[in-house]
Amino acid sequence: MTRSAHDRTHLVIADDLSGVASHAADLFVRLSRSADLAGGRFAVALSGGSTPRALHALLSAPPYYDAVHWPAVELYWGDDRCVPPDDPESNYRMARETLLEALLARGAIRDEQIHRMHTELPPDQVAEAYERELRHAFTLAEGHLPRFDLLFLGMGPDGHTLSLFPHTTALTVTDRLVTANYVSKLSSNRVTLTYPVANNAAAVAFLVAGADKAEALARVLDGPRNPEEFPAQFIAPTDGDLYWLVDRAAAAQVQRGATG
Ligand code: 6PG
Repeated sequence: MTRSAHDRTHLVIADDLSGVASHAADLFVRLSRSADLAGGRFAVALSGGSTPRALHALLSAPPYYDAVHWPAVELYWGDDRCVPPDDPESNYRMARETLLEALLARGAIRDEQIHRMHTELPPDQVAEAYERELRHAFTLAEGHLPRFDLLFLGMGPDGHTLSLFPHTTALTVTDRLVTANYVSKLSSNRVTLTYPVANNAAAVAFLVAGADKAEALARVLDGPRNPEEFPAQFIAPTDGDLYWLVDRAAAAQVQRGATG
C-alpha cells in the first residue's frame, strides 16, 4: 500500500538551529547508509545561504563524519548565485569552506564526487551545462528527471526556496532540469533546479531556523495554496519523503502539530 503524501510529510521542531542541524545530520547518515547498503551512490544536493553551515560542521567531524561512507556520496547543489566560485556570495564557496575542504583533506571524497555549478559562466550557460551534467551523471533518458536521494532546501523570509523566488520566471519552468533566474529585488542572477526535479527526489529536507522565517513558514505550511507568492509550496515530492526540520522560533506561528 503506498503511503500518502500526508503520511510522508514530517515536521520536526527542534529547540534551536543546533537541533535542526543534528536532525539533518541524522537524516543524512540514515539515508546514506540505505543507499550504501543497496550498493548504490548517494546523490545529495546541498542548499545555500547560511543555515546549512551548522549541518556541514556536524558532517565534517566525528561522530557524523565517521558514520558516513563518503566514497559512495555524490555532492550536488540545488542552486547557486552567478558569481565566481571563490566569491563570498557563492553557495559552492560556503560548502567548500564548511564541509568540502575537511572531506578532501581527509581523503574522504575525491574532486570527481563534487558536482558544482560553473557559475563563472553566463547564467544560461551555467544552467545548460549543469543540466548536461545531471543527464550524464544520472544516465537520464530523454524526458526523465534525476532522482536525488536527499535534497536539502532552505527557505527565505519571503517563502522562496532554491532560487525559486516569488513571481519570478523560474516558477514557470517545468520542461527543464535547471534554469537561470534573474531575481530583480536582489539584482542577482541565479541558477536553480526546477521544482519538478526537486519533487522527484526520494527525500527532501527543509532546514528552517529563526524568528524571521516564522510568518512565511506558517503561510507555507498552514496557509492557502499560493505557490507563486510562497514558492516553497511548490515542493511536494511525488514519491518521496518531505522533512521540515525547523526550530521553535521559526515554528512560532505554525498551527499544525509536529510529527516527531
Ligand atoms: C540561496 C539558497 C536559498 C536559501 C534561503 C535561506 O542561494 O540563498 O539556496 O534558497 O536556502 O535563502 O537562506 P538562509 O539559510 O541564509 O536563511
